[in-house]
This record gives sequence, C-alpha cells and structure tokens, in this order.
Amino acid sequence: MEKELLISRVDIQKRVHELADQIASDYQGKEPVFIGVLNGVIFFFADLLRAIRIPSRMDFVRAASYGSGTTSSGKIQFTKNVEIDIRGKPVILVEDIVDTGLTLAYVKENLERKGPESLRTCVLIDKLERREVSVPIDYCGFPIREGFVVGYGLDYDEKYRHLPDIYVLKMAD
Ligand code: IMP
Repeated sequence: MEKELLISRVDIQKRVHELADQIASDYQGKEPVFIGVLNGVIFFFADLLRAIRIPSRMDFVRAASYGSGTTSSGKIQFTKNVEIDIRGKPVILVEDIVDTGLTLAYVKENLERKGPESLRTCVLIDKLERREVSVPIDYCGFPIREGFVVGYGLDYDEKYRHLPDIYVLKMAD
C-alpha cells in the first residue's frame, strides 16, 4: 500500500521531549504511574518515559476493539488489565492514537473505578475527524484531522509498526 511521510522521527522526538518536560514539571515531587495501552503505544511509551526526569512507575493494559480493518467496531474489552495497585496514585494513561475516542473512554472509566488520586491522559496523535465520545486529552503530541496513520508503533493489520517515522496510508476508495 502506498504511504506518505506525515511526521518525521526528528519531529516525533522533539515533541516527545516537550511533552516529557511538561509532565515532569506538572508532577514535580510526585511519582506518577504511567499506564500504556498496548500494542501501538510501545515506542512512544518507551521514548516518553525515558525522557521524563522524575521517578515513575509503569504498567500496561490491552484493549481489543479493532479487527483487521481501519474503523473501530465499538466493542471493547480488556485482554490485559493493570497489575499494579493504582489506588491513591497519580496516574497518566498513555495511548498512541485517539480516533472515535471509544477505547480511551473505556480504559479511562475502568481505571477511574480503581480510585487513583488523579487520572490524566497523554496521547501521541489526536485524530479529530471521527470522534464519537468526548474524552479529555491532557497531553497531546500531534492533532491531525483525518487519515489512517502507521509507523512508530501504529499498525495497519499488524504491519508498519516498526517504522521510525509516521506515515499516512493512501487508501484506495
Ligand atoms: P478509537 O477507539 O476509535 O479511538 O481507536 C483507538 C485505537 O484504534 C487506537 O489505539 C489504534 O489501535 C486504532 N487506530 C485508530 N486510528 C488509527 C490509525 O490511524 N492508525 C493506526 N491505528 C489506529
């Protein structure tokens, strides 16, 4: 499938470091728990956490909603839940991309029930075109309007995740 460069690795790293500085300054004196939504978040999560200059802890959830297509089925369930106790802790939920918002809203609601001290969201790409539920994004890497993006962890049918830059796929109509 044809693809076009959207965000270069240099721009990704620059933005990741800006987000890391902002989070470190907002959470000075605290030890936030970062929860990544697998699988797409892996590279973003790894780069972000290593750039944040305050102590942190980490865990992951995995929420299945996508099949092999490009639109959310709307049915979401955890295939992996958090394993560390987040009660009374400041938590930052880290996601690769928000499209309809259904996944992030589902994960956020579930984590809220575990009683964290606070719960913020950090998203690499906020894709605005197809939002169905409004969910607050506290730290946003790149807002984009539309398109299906791959690379830097993001896949299409489990392909392209390994690419260091972010591309937009040229879908046939
Ligand atoms: P949502 O529930 O519709 O917000 O979708 C969230 C999930 O859909 C993300 O975690 C991604 O796994 C996937 N997704 C949505 N848009 C894209 C895209 O443009 N590229 C790759 N994955 C996407």
